[in-house]
Amino acid sequence: MCGIVGYTGPNPALSRVIEGLRRLEYRGYDSAGVALATEKSAPLVVAKKAGKLNNLESSLTSTYDNATSGIGHTRWATHGGPTDTNAHPHISNDGKLAVIHNGIIENYVELKEDLEKRGHTFTSETDTESVAHLLSDEFRKNQDLAAAMRSVCKQLRGSFTLLAIHSDSPEHIVGARRNSPLVVGVGDGENFLASDVSAFISHTKKALELGQDQVVDVTPQGVSVTDLEGGAITPKAYEITWDAKAAERGGFTHFMLKEIFEQPKAISDTLLGRFGADGKIECKEIENLSLDIDRILILACGTAYHAGLIGKYALEEWAKIPVDVELASEFRYRKPVLSKNTLVITISQSGETMDTLMALRHAKELGAQTLSICNTIGSTIPRESDGVLYTHAGPEIAVASTKALLTQIVALHVVGLYLAQEKKTLSASDIVLIREEVLALPNKVEEILETVEPLRTMTRGFKDSTSVLFLGRHVGYPAALEGALKLKELAYMHAEGFAGGELKHGPIALIEAGTPVIAILPPATSEISEKMLSNIQEVKARGAKVIAIADSTTKLDVPHVIRIPQSLELLQPLLSIVPLQVFAYEMAVARGNDVDQPRNLAKSVTVE
Ligand code: F6R
Repeated sequence: MCGIVGYTGPNPALSRVIEGLRRLEYRGYDSAGVALATEKSAPLVVAKKAGKLNNLESSLTSTYDNATSGIGHTRWATHGGPTDTNAHPHISNDGKLAVIHNGIIENYVELKEDLEKRGHTFTSETDTESVAHLLSDEFRKNQDLAAAMRSVCKQLRGSFTLLAIHSDSPEHIVGARRNSPLVVGVGDGENFLASDVSAFISHTKKALELGQDQVVDVTPQGVSVTDLEGGAITPKAYEITWDAKAAERGGFTHFMLKEIFEQPKAISDTLLGRFGADGKIECKEIENLSLDIDRILILACGTAYHAGLIGKYALEEWAKIPVDVELASEFRYRKPVLSKNTLVITISQSGETMDTLMALRHAKELGAQTLSICNTIGSTIPRESDGVLYTHAGPEIAVASTKALLTQIVALHVVGLYLAQEKKTLSASDIVLIREEVLALPNKVEEILETVEPLRTMTRGFKDSTSVLFLGRHVGYPAALEGALKLKELAYMHAEGFAGGELKHGPIALIEAGTPVIAILPPATSEISEKMLSNIQEVKARGAKVIAIADSTTKLDVPHVIRIPQSLELLQPLLSIVPLQVFAYEMAVARGNDVDQPRNLAKSVTVE
């Protein structure tokens, strides 16, 4: 959601800000804008346009090379439609102050009423504009933008990242954050503020984490961070471990396709160092947690939730601990019973998903121990968890999550094996066997990707279908849910995942002649193999066109069979999901959709 960039330094700010916004495009947006300080104490140059960044760029009549500080924004509309006027930045009535915002200001109506009484004129329908007016009033008191920001933040309810610039102190960019992401990029004589590090990755790899309710003031020479009372804070510094190339398409037509093909490496990188030479599973991240665990609760949203549903089977079978998986957005508004013996695992690629963050805080308040599985170093969810296990998927740019999912599943497998080892619920020889299968996964995913062309051709043949159903049992059921989610978000088609056993309890009524049904088959040795084969017969008898995903142990008589390598049943989703991703990708391409930025979606859902 909303991308935010601020720059101050000796270089032309516009090009730095636009480059940052381009790199943040993946977050999803519907309008964009910039504000530049070109001349001390003069009105700022402000340009904003509905639609893609190209619209904004073509509306600019100059490169404004004299502006060496500026802020830029890509907006994902919440309050007020995606119009030029509602796009950020929002400016004070004298035009000297501009603000950009990610999040929601919950008390904006009362603030606006009050500001209008004080003579401020509003031009947009946004919640953000009140902040611009409030800040300009506060700034007038002592000409200190950081002090003004601290004072304003105390008056705001809701969640926000805010950046502000004022032409009276044009070298300063001031930011603040509460429940929304903001990082500092520390350059050489230039500094950046941004929603995430990809905005400045080609200029610096040095970053600073900002905490809750902190205000940051950057100039070309320095960074100063305070709490809302003005107390100095030393932010945590970290080095970004990937480079700009990792966040570029590198010859692929879409980021999503590139990320699908990066999955073998993402799995290997996430497993690196997990299996010691002595055969021991290494999981330092949870060594500091108490292993006196009588229940695990996994909380996440969307695809990350599916990772949890898949991981549950292995965690229970290997570690013999009951596992529940719940949507973070549901959990946060319940009054569940947790104890210090409950381990709550939150899963999040971005580490900033608002519902997952709020669910984590709720779980902590209820006394649980918390572990996060996350792909983004320094993000809020891992910072607030008792332990963190980082996945190493690298930057995931396409809105639809692919490589992050597979790494989240293997991370859960590592946790399951570690707990089984420590609690001795699996024998050493069983652990060795599973370990070998886990380590073989990258090559098996590679094998699928090498033979994916016929699947791509076949997918195009289903381009005009109106609905696709996905069927699975056991771990194949959450894999089916994921297949359906990918197809919905990318191809804008009706798609649903069902547990095979539920078919006759309703969903079978949806089958018509020609309905594509994608069935995920377990290995033939599984006790559910024959049940799935019966489900296939049932849908075939009603005219469905079945596409089966199966390993070579299962004989099938259906129009399309996609073969995947053999693996343990519990690990199979790491293979069966790959063709489902390719199916959704190819369908989106065939239907002419924006694969990397599907309509209405945002990469990191930082509002409720
Ligand atoms: C689907 C997708 C979303 C995310 C969800 C959680 O392809 O990308 O469903 O999985 O928004 O995001 P994170 O993992 O960042 O918490």
